[in-house]
Amino acid sequence: MTNQSTAVAIIGAGDIFPAYAKGLAQFGNLRLIGVADARPDAAQGRAAEFALPCMSLDHLLGSEAEIIINLTPPQAHRAVGEAVLKAGKHLYTEKPLAGSYADGAALLALAGACGLRIGCAPDTFLGGAAQAARALVDADRIGRIVAGQACMMERGPDDWHPNPEVFYRPGAGPLMDMGVYYLTQLVQLLGPIARVSGMAHTSWPVRQIPRGPRRGESIKVETPTHLVAGLAFEQGAFITLSTSFDVWKHKSSHIELYGEGGSLVLPDPNQFGGAIEVCEDDGDWLAQAPTAFTGRHRGLGVADMADALRASRPHRASGEMALHVLEAMDAILRAAEQHRPLSLQTRCARPEPVPAGFADSLQYREQGA
Ligand SMILES: NC(=O)c1ccc[n+]([C@@H]2O[C@H](COP(=O)([O-])OP(=O)(O)OC[C@H]3O[C@@H](n4cnc5c(N)ncnc54)[C@H](O)[C@@H]3O)[C@@H](O)[C@H]2O)c1
Repeated sequence: MTNQSTAVAIIGAGDIFPAYAKGLAQFGNLRLIGVADARPDAAQGRAAEFALPCMSLDHLLGSEAEIIINLTPPQAHRAVGEAVLKAGKHLYTEKPLAGSYADGAALLALAGACGLRIGCAPDTFLGGAAQAARALVDADRIGRIVAGQACMMERGPDDWHPNPEVFYRPGAGPLMDMGVYYLTQLVQLLGPIARVSGMAHTSWPVRQIPRGPRRGESIKVETPTHLVAGLAFEQGAFITLSTSFDVWKHKSSHIELYGEGGSLVLPDPNQFGGAIEVCEDDGDWLAQAPTAFTGRHRGLGVADMADALRASRPHRASGEMALHVLEAMDAILRAAEQHRPLSLQTRCARPEPVPAGFADSLQYREQGA
């Protein structure tokens, strides 16, 4: 801990909280000063587990924290985010930015009016794998990218998350909850999306939790659980994206990009590490292992935002990029309802690639989090 460290605090003491508490501790430029939750018992439990002060929401909003991290469910992101901004704090929120594009746009407008920043997960695109891919794309290793496919298919969080109902409500589902990693990765590599198409399907209107402590309980499904989208990027590439909570197993790659001069296969964009494969023309696949930030680093985006505030530079996991991705997801769902492609209104700049010495600038120390 140094005098220059930025005080941060967390609202939301649920399932993802431990990953943040451990991840934030790896960055010497951050100091986690407390936790609050609408359920005081949840906040007390996490505070005791991580030897942190347990705060009421009002106490936390009035604390010395410069950045408040929002780890509540998506449907609460707008209300919690507005409270944070109205308290004069910068906001870093878990994904998606909000439960709908309208809510996300309202949050960004409020931040702008208050002169405050919004940062938003996912920050996995700052990890070693995504940055190695970015370097290959920027070096034109596979030439102009013309097409690609992205695939996130799984059986849903029914058997591992303590509150799986939330994942089947508007603001979540496989696209908003998981597709957000894939879209963010694609936007950081290729830039903004111009138009989307979409088809959406719900395989089961009521789901039974298949195993675990709540086995056999029913969940009402209120948002599509299998979606196929077409993404037309401004730079010209056309990419298909499949997201599903209806599939036990498959053998598709997470992301493949096809360029005029070769192809690139990327690992899971929900992870910081993973191997990349690249080929030139129809040559052999060459594996490339990333070096920096390949472990578990929830909080890397917060550390970058804190450093950016000190240095008066843009932070990378920006509200603008998160809003663009949210608009794309919202538009895919609307395109599916309306049976027609839709143009997007927002755009965003690609975040700056991570430079050499990035870890040192964040006073990063590996703690096996
Ligand atoms: N669980 C994961 O593995 C995971 C992974 C990545 C990202 N996320 C994201 O993290 C966020 C939280 O997910 P989670 O799985 O921890 O959810 P969770 O349901 O386990 O916990 C959410 C917590 O927020 C609290 N809360 C709800 N509304 C609130 C409000 N208005 N004010 C204060 N507290 C409130 C709840 O009491 C609960 O303790 C979501 O945006 C999710 O997409 C979760």
